[in-house]
Amino acid sequence: MNRGIRNFFKTLPATYELINTILTFGLDSIWRRKAVRWATAGENGQRVWLDICTGTGQMARLSSKISSGNTFVVAADFSLPMLELARRKSSGSSISFSGADALHLPFGDRSFDCMTIGFATRNLNSIEGHLLQALREFHRALKPGGCFVNVETSQPRSKLIKKMFHLYVGLTVRPVGRIISGSGPGYAYLANSIRRFHDAERLKAILLEAGFARVEYKKLLFGAVAIHKAVK
Ligand SMILES: C[S@@+](CC[C@H](N)C(=O)[O-])C[C@H]1O[C@@H](n2cnc3c(N)ncnc32)[C@H](O)[C@@H]1O
Repeated sequence: MNRGIRNFFKTLPATYELINTILTFGLDSIWRRKAVRWATAGENGQRVWLDICTGTGQMARLSSKISSGNTFVVAADFSLPMLELARRKSSGSSISFSGADALHLPFGDRSFDCMTIGFATRNLNSIEGHLLQALREFHRALKPGGCFVNVETSQPRSKLIKKMFHLYVGLTVRPVGRIISGSGPGYAYLANSIRRFHDAERLKAILLEAGFARVEYKKLLFGAVAIHKAVK
């Protein structure tokens, strides 16, 4: 399955950002920006950040732009075509890129002051136990006191809004993804991963189980998206 996900993301780079922009009416960029701003709150001094599952590098570029001038950003992903596009889109920045599996990070303990992840914890959740394993790995690679910030789709609390959200996902993600990227099964997988993902409270509980403390979250768009911040 992990290989399936990896192969799927190989086919997406060229159209990935365009499809997200269409499906969210451009809100995905605003959500990433909010997450990065929350991660930078209270930062000071020299810092090393990791944006894991970086895809085309949008979160990494925002981190590099919004954080203080002393911040060094590493962007990592296990899909080399995604990473290659991220590298091209980030030319002129000081971001460094690394091929890395979130489940087995090639970084030592206590390497990073902050870690971010955008719209990818759902992928880590596709295989039983992998999400918890990855979160433990992120916790290991963070310095004590370091923060982890996750922005991801979530589940609205209101049954009616949740139904409408799932209906919207069902009607749009696969058809739009298939027409623009040509990958129908890939976007069917993404639509399913949105419907199956945890609500904000459950994700908070998993972060606590992985060893994080002071877990807080903010809900966006009636709870269809959530940003979690947790501290090691
Ligand atoms: C939906 S995209 C999100 C990309 C980007 N973070 C964003 O904000 O749009 C998911 C990304 O996670 C990567 N990914 C999925 N599972 C991974 C894993 N186990 N290790 C590293 N990268 C992974 C995929 O290759 C893909 O680039």
